[in-house]
Amino acid sequence: MFYPYVLVIHLLAAIAFIGTLFFEVCIWYSARRQLLPGSQLAVDQAIASRSRKVLHGVVLVLYGAGAVLAWYHRSALSQPLASSFASLLSLKILLALSIIGHYLLLAYWLQRGRLSEERARRIRYSILSHMLLIVILAKAMFYG
Ligand code: HEM
Repeated sequence: MFYPYVLVIHLLAAIAFIGTLFFEVCIWYSARRQLLPGSQLAVDQAIASRSRKVLHGVVLVLYGAGAVLAWYHRSALSQPLASSFASLLSLKILLALSIIGHYLLLAYWLQRGRLSEERARRIRYSILSHMLLIVILAKAMFYG
């Protein structure tokens, strides 16, 4: 059956996505303070440009595989309040869509030159919190 392969791909892409955010928020933000201001900016730009490139592919795979998995559960999703599985899965998908909203807002602020360091930090914290909640929901939906 095709489903378990898609599930593993979805899980691996989720690990890559969450791992990147975890590194940026929990490791890089405090580690960069030990560098000279000039080098901070250079490394920030190098990490941002590399992670943007890698994340584009990862996000495509993650959401593409997620859509395939959701298709298998389409009858549950058509009645989101009928079971705890359907409710938790629907909430998980809403949170995943909200992450896309975060990135659109980030791109909008970046384009308008309104992306302060504080805004960038807060939005990354919010994305990471969404992801943690998504993983908890993804597990809870089978035991709820
Ligand atoms: C940031 C985005 C996302 C993350 C971090 C994420 C993460 C996860 C994780 C960790 C699992 C559990 C996998 C396992 O235990 O083997 C899972 C399952 C699942 N995800 Fe996602 N997901 C995301 C987006 C989506 C999207 C956009 C959809 C649908 C449109 C989706 C649909 C599903 C479904 C249906 C399952 C249940 C699969 C199963 O265990 O049988 N996910 N997700």
